[in-house]
Amino acid sequence: MSIETQRGAKPATSPEHPNSWVYLNGEYRRYQDARIGLMTHALHYGTGCFEGIRAYWNAGKSQLYLLQGGPHYERLRRSGNIMRMTLPHTTEELLNITMELLRRNEYQGDVYIRPLLFKSAEIIGVRLHGVPESFAIYTAPFGNYVDVENGIRCMVSSWRRVSDQSLPARAKVTGAYANSALAKSEAEEGGFDEAIVLTVDGHVSEGSAENLFLYKEGEFVTPPVTDDILEGITRKLIIKLIEDELGKRVVERSIDRTELYTCDELFLCGTGAQISPVIEVDRRTVADGKIGEFTGELQEIYFGACRGDNPKYSDWSLPVY
Ligand SMILES: Cc1ncc(COP(=O)(O)O)c(C=O)c1O
Repeated sequence: MSIETQRGAKPATSPEHPNSWVYLNGEYRRYQDARIGLMTHALHYGTGCFEGIRAYWNAGKSQLYLLQGGPHYERLRRSGNIMRMTLPHTTEELLNITMELLRRNEYQGDVYIRPLLFKSAEIIGVRLHGVPESFAIYTAPFGNYVDVENGIRCMVSSWRRVSDQSLPARAKVTGAYANSALAKSEAEEGGFDEAIVLTVDGHVSEGSAENLFLYKEGEFVTPPVTDDILEGITRKLIIKLIEDELGKRVVERSIDRTELYTCDELFLCGTGAQISPVIEVDRRTVADGKIGEFTGELQEIYFGACRGDNPKYSDWSLPVY
């Protein structure tokens, strides 16, 4: 299987690339000219909603494919609705702005796109209503977020996933990522690659920034959207691939922690993580500790589809150039 990796890719919008184009409040600007104030509401109170979108470079076709742009912007609109924010553009306009940014930055490699809708008033005051907002998009070269080739080692976090009753996980809210960061750092500093987080009532929810699937007794299982997961766009694509390509059933039901130890295959998925096989949880090997057969097959199909090499899935992406 050939999977392109770009470990150590430097973000285009880091200070080394101050001239890259970004979008802020209706204008295309250089990164170094797009500044926000120290008192910005979202910086203090986590009152922003965001997305993470990928564009895949196909070297053979000299083409960049924007993956699932529409669904990401629609999720951002829904997140905004929960957090009392309104996107200032239609989805079609947002897609056009994104394509324009990618073209201006002349990417010839994989890219990460980060739209951010945030409470931008420079005021002290914890609330959502009546606080003006801003909208920005920045883009950066991006390789693999977690290992997709060798399989990762996970721990079940001592932190619990934010609950719909306190900070809705189905909204991609900046402030909620303090929860993800607690779990991720605990895992990495404990010698693991990634954290798997349980709901407050003890069911498996998801990874720190990925949805989760396991394979057991001939079918795939993934937590339902009511178990405090982000309703992942990759998750939806993978459910379809499992059914259509592998001819297997996907059951959406609550998962117990110990099912992670006893399943036949396990993987995390997301825009950043793509399909990341899990080979160990809490120092117990998953099956024989190797990447599962169906997980490997799904990776192959998924990467082919993302990179624009499978005409069957051409409607997943928009060609940028
Ligand atoms: C907490 C969390 N869960 C799941 C996902 C996967 O979602 P998607 O496939 O839409 O990227 C992400 C990634 O954005 C995430 O941050």
